[in-house]
Amino acid sequence: MNILLIGSGGRESAFAWKIAQSPRLKNLYIAPGNAGTKSYGMNVAISETDFEAIKNFVLEKKIDLVLIGPEAPLVKGIHDYFLADEKLKTIPVIGPKKDGAQLEGSKDFSKQFMQRHQIPTARYQTFTKETLEKGFDFLESLKPPYVLKADGLAAGKGVVILTSLAEAKTELNEMLANAKFGNASAKVVIEEFLSGQELSVFVLTDGTSYKLLPAAKDYKRIGEGDTGPNTGGMGAISPVPFADVEFLKKVEERIIGPTLKGLKQEGILYKGFIFIGLMNVGGEPYVIEYNCRMGDPETEVVLPRIKSDILELLEGVGKGNLSSKHFETDERIVMTVMLVSGGYPGDYEKGKIIKGLDKVEGSIVFQAGTKEEGAQIVTNGGRIMAISSYGATLEEVRKKCLKNAEVITYDEKFYRKDIGLDL
Ligand code: AMP
Ligand code: GLY
Repeated sequence: MNILLIGSGGRESAFAWKIAQSPRLKNLYIAPGNAGTKSYGMNVAISETDFEAIKNFVLEKKIDLVLIGPEAPLVKGIHDYFLADEKLKTIPVIGPKKDGAQLEGSKDFSKQFMQRHQIPTARYQTFTKETLEKGFDFLESLKPPYVLKADGLAAGKGVVILTSLAEAKTELNEMLANAKFGNASAKVVIEEFLSGQELSVFVLTDGTSYKLLPAAKDYKRIGEGDTGPNTGGMGAISPVPFADVEFLKKVEERIIGPTLKGLKQEGILYKGFIFIGLMNVGGEPYVIEYNCRMGDPETEVVLPRIKSDILELLEGVGKGNLSSKHFETDERIVMTVMLVSGGYPGDYEKGKIIKGLDKVEGSIVFQAGTKEEGAQIVTNGGRIMAISSYGATLEEVRKKCLKNAEVITYDEKFYRKDIGLDL
């Protein structure tokens, strides 16, 4: 098969690594990719939302399947674009159409969807500029902390959690009246705060049947002990000890089943990954959010734990016969530690020379914000690379990740040393 993978992060490096292992692969192209994806396929200088350039490339290279990594092309309608084109419509796109991508693209849509299908989630209300005063009233009816969510995509910054009522009111005003997140905060969801342990569950579906992928825990804050501002994710681990058989059974019965049934009932044909952010509140699962893609850095621990051929599975999604495909997971623990640029998630510099990649032993490096500059590999973003390791114990995997995190060098390197310590 000829595969086109869209995206450029650590998630896409992990997909490329996994796809490259498939005996069914002929050519793998990554658009635009990073300095690391080049070792698994060919990078193509096409932006992830340039649909016309993607179309021309797909036809020229006789691509058999397109896998979409990030949410932006999905929310913008890349799958719909393929279906509407005579020449492209038979080529499977892995990732939902615009309608399904709304699960991530609009928090208001996803909350209403959960309500319609009795899927457990925090109590909420949605407000606009016109109903700002009602928003203040609703805040007054809640106990702190206050959770405010911009409705649309806001580069992972659209959720604000505040402890004082006055701050929450100011923030609501900023989002609605002063368009803090532009059009993304034209609507704001205010919801009850859920207290518990967070984890991510991943589903691959062909619209009818599904495979439950290994669950993972992401470490979102920049600082050790979960302190400081939120990031895209500083590390991850799979499996998650508290996501035991009993808990996952509740997740399948109360959340995954109703989600897939709900999509079907609403006429939304969903082919792709669903990432369900969950809170374990005293043993009961609640949905915090849906994403219409895999997580990053969760993919860097989830894919290494899948033994089955990923192209078999993706082909099953495209053809609608996923239920007939073999699915097997690896029992070992996988941890990933993300190396980032100094200053991230705030301002940081790019172009730092990376050394030591050839000295890594016993871990897999999934590059993210990297690019080639002549013979050098240099930093090109906030999150630089994910270092993933297999092992039998948490201690063993952490040791391997941290040893290799030391081996890699670049100016102002930063990473968390406490991934998995809380477990
Ligand atoms: P999101 O962008 O929806 O993933 O939200 C970012 C983070 O905010 C989540 O990963 C949670 O840690 C936190 N969060 C979101 N909603 C809630 C909630 N209702 N209660 C507690 N924490 C929340
Ligand atoms: N790691 C969280 C995300 O991918 O949204």
